[in-house]
Amino acid sequence: MQPLWQHILQRRTKLLLRGTLIVCPFLHSYNPNFVPFKNSFNIMDIQTILEKFTKHLGGNATAVYASPGRINLIGEHTDYNGGFVFPGAVEQGMICAFRPNGTRVIRAYSADLKDYDEFSIDDPAGPHASHFRYVFGVAREMMARGVDVQGFDTAFAGDVPLGAGMSSSAALESTFAFAINDQFGDNKIEKMELAKVGQATEHKYIGVNCGIMDQFASVFGKKGNLMRLDCRSGEFQYFPWNPKEYRLVLINSRVKHELVGSPYNDRRRSCENVVAAINAKFPELKAQTLRDCTWDHLEAVKDTCDPVDIKRAKFVLGEVDRVLAVSDALERGDYETVGQKMYETHYGLSRDYEVSCEELDFLNDVAFDCGVTGSRIMGGGFGGCTINLVRNNLYELFTTTVVERFTEKYGKKPVIIPVVIGDGSRRLL
Ligand code: GLA
Repeated sequence: MQPLWQHILQRRTKLLLRGTLIVCPFLHSYNPNFVPFKNSFNIMDIQTILEKFTKHLGGNATAVYASPGRINLIGEHTDYNGGFVFPGAVEQGMICAFRPNGTRVIRAYSADLKDYDEFSIDDPAGPHASHFRYVFGVAREMMARGVDVQGFDTAFAGDVPLGAGMSSSAALESTFAFAINDQFGDNKIEKMELAKVGQATEHKYIGVNCGIMDQFASVFGKKGNLMRLDCRSGEFQYFPWNPKEYRLVLINSRVKHELVGSPYNDRRRSCENVVAAINAKFPELKAQTLRDCTWDHLEAVKDTCDPVDIKRAKFVLGEVDRVLAVSDALERGDYETVGQKMYETHYGLSRDYEVSCEELDFLNDVAFDCGVTGSRIMGGGFGGCTINLVRNNLYELFTTTVVERFTEKYGKKPVIIPVVIGDGSRRLL
């Protein structure tokens, strides 16, 4: 396989040759009217969800809650390895209208899927459909943490594109964790524990052994800020995100990203296998995750492990280093380095972690050809979006080119999603 340095060199040469001829950034300026996505949670949305509630559940809701989806600048598949992630909340999210109903039953209406169900919070089996299992799982996990959860009526909806890798499910979980804490728990459960409620719901009720990044970002999001979370210690810092000359944009390949039943859990198992081998060889280390291991540890067990597992583990160690390099670069305002690390992450996710697909690699190639500063798969992979760090003066050219070239090749238009960093879980009414 071609090594990373060769790949980068080849691409840089290509860029030098093409960049000056094809991409002339000064001819294109950012078009501020280009807003293909409506903003969520405005008064209209509150009104709409209240109306849905009245129509499908009768009477009036007494509260409205919302939580966002997320982006991630860098740090992929590091969360369940105790590493660093760099997410931010977006403006798109989930919204729910809520009313306690004095019973032990949840009556729920999904406005997007036009589906209704009711289920007892005391019956461990819960509902069948996954969109209701999120609600049920969160209620049960809040009960397990001592909250006196009661039955409630709810209508919910959202504008996080499904299957785009922007964590619509975490947005849904955080919305209900926040709502139940507020309605039945006197807000006694800490925010980090609310995130863990969502994560436990994924593990126990959906079957995805995810890390904490998505739920963390949804609960803790802050307008205009990214967050660097150390998933081992739980410590995090806000990083104001306001580059003057760059912006972030997602390109949704519309290849539906779906972690349930995907090899996502296999990736996690590969990492755990390597940790087990390292612990067997170095019992004094007592490593919990790959974060506790070094390159030397990997080298020492490489002959006793499955080479595929070793390849995965190398990606993770490299990705942890990249997040730290990006943090330093951001503090210096060095967006070129940020972008270069994004390309390196894409390469690793595609070749070593193997969570890309043809369409995502194509989007990454087009970004590179256009001279985009940084581009990579975002989230778990297996479809969904790329996240792109683009100079303002290249934005229109890039978005136009990527739509044209992708449509020509795959016969469907990718969706452009400009990133606006928004707030985390909150009560709206
Ligand atoms: C999904 C999971 C997260 C994280 C990412 C990959 O979004 O839910 O916990 O592992 O994939 O970084």
